[in-house]
Parts: sequence; C-alpha cells; structure tokens
Amino acid sequence: MNYLASPLGSKKKFLILGCGFSGSFFAKTIRKFGCIALTSSRTENNDPNSFVFNSESNVIPDEKIFDGVTHILSCIPPDKNGNDPVLGSLKNKLKSLSLEWVGYLSTTGVYGNTQGNWVSEIDQPKPFQKRSHKRLNCEKEWIDSGLPVQIFRLPGIYGPGRSTFEAIKTQKIRIISKKNQVFSRIHVADITNAIIHLLQNKNDLKFYQIINIADDEPCSQIEVIQYCYNLLGLKMPKPISFEDAKKELSPIAQSFWMENRRVSNKLLCEELGYKLIYKNYKIGLKNCFLNS
Ligand SMILES: NC(=O)c1ccc[n+]([C@@H]2O[C@H](COP(=O)([O-])OP(=O)(O)OC[C@H]3O[C@@H](n4cnc5c(N)ncnc54)[C@H](OP(=O)(O)O)[C@@H]3O)[C@@H](O)[C@H]2O)c1
Repeated sequence: MNYLASPLGSKKKFLILGCGFSGSFFAKTIRKFGCIALTSSRTENNDPNSFVFNSESNVIPDEKIFDGVTHILSCIPPDKNGNDPVLGSLKNKLKSLSLEWVGYLSTTGVYGNTQGNWVSEIDQPKPFQKRSHKRLNCEKEWIDSGLPVQIFRLPGIYGPGRSTFEAIKTQKIRIISKKNQVFSRIHVADITNAIIHLLQNKNDLKFYQIINIADDEPCSQIEVIQYCYNLLGLKMPKPISFEDAKKELSPIAQSFWMENRRVSNKLLCEELGYKLIYKNYKIGLKNCFLNS
C-alpha cells in the first residue's frame, strides 16, 4: 500500500460509530494516514478522541462532533427490534452533512445456509436466523437512506486479542466436529485495509454498494483449533460430535452450526484488486500468536 499516494489525508474527518474490535482497529489505522478519526462508545472514557453515542438511552453526540465530517463508518449491530441504531437516532443529522462516503459493517449471515456452497454478492440473501433478518433490514435502511453508503458483509472476525487462542487460554474452547461443516473468516486487519484500498482507489474503481470481505479459505473449526494447539505446542483434546455437543450449547452457539457456507471474495480481490494480508487462517493465526 502506497501511503504517500493516498487521497486520504489530513482533510478527511471520520466518525467511527461503535468503536469495538473492528472500529478501533480501523480508527487506529486511518489516523496513520493523517486523517482525523473520532470514535463512539456507549459510555464515557478517557480517550480524548472518543464521544458518547448510545441509542438505547437516547444519548446522541454533541453538534460540534459533526463539524467537517467527510466519512462515517458504522460498526453497530441492529437493535433488539431489528432497526439500525445509527439511522434511528442520527439519520437527519447525517443527511445534512456533506458526506463523501458512509461504510456499514454487516454480516454474511444474511446469505443464510448454502449447504457449504460458495455464495457471492449477486446471490439473493436468504436469511435463516432471526438476527440475520434484522441485519438485512438494517442493510435496506442504509440503502434507502440515500446516503453514499457501501455495505461490507463480514464472516467471523478474528485478530490479536480475539481468536481461538483466547478461547483456549480461558478454557472456553469447545472442540466440536460436524461432517462437511465449514466457516468463513476474516482477520480484522483485512477489514480495515480492504476498506482503505477501496477509499484510496474510489475514483478509479467501479462503485459496488455491497462487498464481501472474507479470506480465501473457508474451513472447519477443527482445523483452526488443531492449528492453534500445534502453535502452542499442546495436544488438542478429543473432539465431541456435534450431535453430542448440541444439548449443551446455548441457542446462539447452536445457531452458528445451523449454517454452512463458503463466502466468495472474488469481487473484492479479483475485480477490485485488493490483496489480502492474511489469505487464510494459518497466516492470520500466526499473527495473533505473535501479538497476543
Ligand atoms: N464479531 C464477529 O465475528 C462479526 C462477524 C460478522 C459481522 N459482525 C458485525 O460487524 C460489526 C463490527 O463487529 P465487531 O465485532 O468489531 O463489533 P463489537 O466489537 O461488538 O463492537 C460493537 C460496537 O457497537 C457499539 N454499540 C452496540 N450497540 C450500540 C447502541 N445501541 N448504540 C451505540 N453504540 C452501540 C458498541 O459500543 P461499546 O463500545 O460501548 O460496547 C461497540 O463499540 C458489528 O455490527 C457486528 O455485529 C461481527
């Protein structure tokens, strides 16, 4: 990535709404380009670049936060009624700004179960879980808002501080085998860098409103867990079959095993020319191992 050639720079002001795992990585990186990045959280903290936004308690940001904002990235999930918290509280405010770009982090859950087949942006979403219906509803709200929005559909996000290593260390790991079951994943750094790639080349690339950001190699959970145990130099305990494990899983944990899909990144990586930093879980987890 050529930092000097970047059209991003000191004149750009980003609001990152929902500064959790992905949002904070994005904010930290975009500041290296000389951009201003202010971030929201639901409670006060000591970070001078942070402000409070909490749709649940109707706490909305002070007017001056929006001065000169050019870019918005929303990393906030749907509220319990399936509406978008940002649009519910701030739509009119956002529409009054001269925004160049709005990014929305969504999920590949909207595609539903493809029985292990590949799925891409041109496939009709067929949400299966209630939460995925809510998510698709939020995507529609963003599209209908008339804002210059780009939606990023993400599979399981991992990175330093949030990966299988933490689950092993805290003994929360469940080693479950289910025949032919795969999951797609993405390293948090690739979410940030893919978005920056698209912003840097905004005027040269065709604008797509919906883009998957996923790595090249969907695979089983067991492969990932085995790889982590190998890196740690530990023996992986014996897997339990999904049928046996099922009764002890929470409804939310069970629901993840009800869907089986391979998420295609061809639009992003072939058509739009993004080069993944972490093409597969092995390279990505090595990064987590070295940085945790
Ligand atoms: N984690 C995954 O594997 C995964 C996979 C696919 C898609 N996604 C989606 O991608 C997005 C980013 O994921 P992430 O894991 O980086 O998120 P995260 O760490 O869970 O952060 C979510 C952020 O949203 C804020 N938030 C939640 N409800 C809010 C509300 N009602 N009003 C204002 N702020 C609110 C949280 O505030 P606080 O900082 O105060 O908690 C937090 O900063 C989310 O929409 C997530 O659902 C996640």
